[in-house]
Amino acid sequence: MELADRYPNLAVSSHPLVAHKLSILRDVATNTKKFRELVRELTWLLGYEAMSDLDTRPRTVRTPLEETQGAEVEPKVGLVPVLRAGLGMVDAMLELIPSAEVWHIGLYRDERTLKPVEYYNKLPDAATAQVCLILDPMLATGGSAAATVDILKAWGAGRIKQVSLIAAPEGVATLSEAHPDVDIHVAAVDRALNERGYIVPGLGDAGDRQFGTFAGPASEPGHAAGDETAEVVRRLQRDLAGGR
Ligand code: PRP
Ligand code: URA
Repeated sequence: MELADRYPNLAVSSHPLVAHKLSILRDVATNTKKFRELVRELTWLLGYEAMSDLDTRPRTVRTPLEETQGAEVEPKVGLVPVLRAGLGMVDAMLELIPSAEVWHIGLYRDERTLKPVEYYNKLPDAATAQVCLILDPMLATGGSAAATVDILKAWGAGRIKQVSLIAAPEGVATLSEAHPDVDIHVAAVDRALNERGYIVPGLGDAGDRQFGTFAGPASEPGHAAGDETAEVVRRLQRDLAGGR
């Protein structure tokens, strides 16, 4: 069964501009400046699609000629960039919806276990946004996304959407099984995760490519990974194949 049939919450953009820009983004020859520009442009295009079902309320507008009925977006939207890599998606989203609140969540993925580790969360006690858009370029194992949704649901967010540039099938399955009510908007679903938990063909490390943090072999994908990492990936792949 196709992934999109199994998970109706998954929306993969079919826009030609998305496919074009994503191909340049993936290219190992794309430099940091160009990479950041492309993350921003792709976020704009995906954000446009992800917010296509926001409720609006009527608003009367006076044009220079006459009064007419317009519309304004009803829900308060919260943008939730996952540090670090989600930061590059914020400005484009704010261009689309300047009234949005921005709530940062700090998570990094332990290289060995591939489990998310939370290190920053300043959400106030009660939810202030009705629709939350999680911004993170990569949906790999899905662990970071599922943990972020857990945080937002505990906060009281009403509707939650995940906006990512590239997903692995394993990540779509993990997030969808844990949170079937969360819409997932992506530019592409790639072939798989490799034994280091990186999306292939992917684009490498989205944080490092945006922020130019290449420190040689030690920072290359999965440098510190070992057997434990490969076992985590194998388990996710068994789950996916078995349809859980
Ligand atoms: C990357 C990415 C996601 C996470 C995805 O962040 O930006 O947050 O990995 O992986 P998952 O789906 O397997 O959880 P990373 O941990 O590299 O942190 P960084 O953005 O600070 O570099
Ligand atoms: N995080 C990344 O930046 N890239 C991947 O392929 C997986 C997780």
